[in-house]
Amino acid sequence: MKTLILTVAFALSAFQAHAAGGPSIPMDHIETDISDQESLQNGLTLYTNYCFGCHSLKYSRYERSANDLGIPNEIFEENLMFGDAKIGQLMDISMPADQAKTWFGNTPPDLTLVARLRGPDWLYNYLRAFYSDPKRPYGVNNVVYKDVGMPHVLAGLQGVCAEAPELGVEPEVDPLSGNIVKSSGCKEFVAEGSLSPEEYDQAIYDIVNYLEYVGEPSRMQSESLGIKVLIFLAFMFVFVYFLNKEYWRGIH
Ligand code: HEC
Repeated sequence: MKTLILTVAFALSAFQAHAAGGPSIPMDHIETDISDQESLQNGLTLYTNYCFGCHSLKYSRYERSANDLGIPNEIFEENLMFGDAKIGQLMDISMPADQAKTWFGNTPPDLTLVARLRGPDWLYNYLRAFYSDPKRPYGVNNVVYKDVGMPHVLAGLQGVCAEAPELGVEPEVDPLSGNIVKSSGCKEFVAEGSLSPEEYDQAIYDIVNYLEYVGEPSRMQSESLGIKVLIFLAFMFVFVYFLNKEYWRGIH
């Protein structure tokens, strides 16, 4: 009996390995959730509108995202695809790498595997870490990725932060007034964006969630399969328990 319980307990415990590469600066932490379809759909929409112009996702197909995110093919084709791309194709783009290098100093990398390479926390902080720096070619710098070649493409949503935002700050609320006295993120803007800081954080969370999904799309299926296996194991356990009792009944 003991061995049986141990075996089941072992089967139930989940192990999750995290990519190495500890952050050298403090960062805010997020828990991604690739079962949150609404977040994934919003992330994909933001990605195609704000990122896809420069960053391909060339190891994944449009159709896979459409199916996994529950978006009918026609709606996907009409709203989330540009030019003459076909739903069965890889999500590649046609930006010439050498020209991109002249424009930005660096070629915008493909982002299919970036969430596995950098980790979701890094991405979540990076996209919230731009600030005004007139010395840089595009007028912005980034706390997480110093002297980055990427312009602040989400400035219309976030606004442009006046100075380097602090990240990884434990939020602190004044118990008397209920006001937030300390928190992560930008405190003062030189240009306003259309979203509130909370809405912007949510938008970035959704983009990162989508990138996390794209990095390992089969995890979505394996997670739902995993749950079915656990339910099966739970039923089996009850069955085996009583069977075990029945076998030993006459012996003790
Ligand atoms: C106008 C072109 C352009 C757009 C649009 C753009 N980027 Fe970039 N991005 C770049 C360039 C160029 C780099 C490389 C910067 C460098 O290495 O200095 C980069 C780098 C990155 C990196 C760092 C990759 C790494 O591991 O080094 C990430 C992550 C990233 N971009 C995410 C995004 C996301 C998410 C969006 C959409 C919200 C986006 N980018 C939109 C040009 C762009």
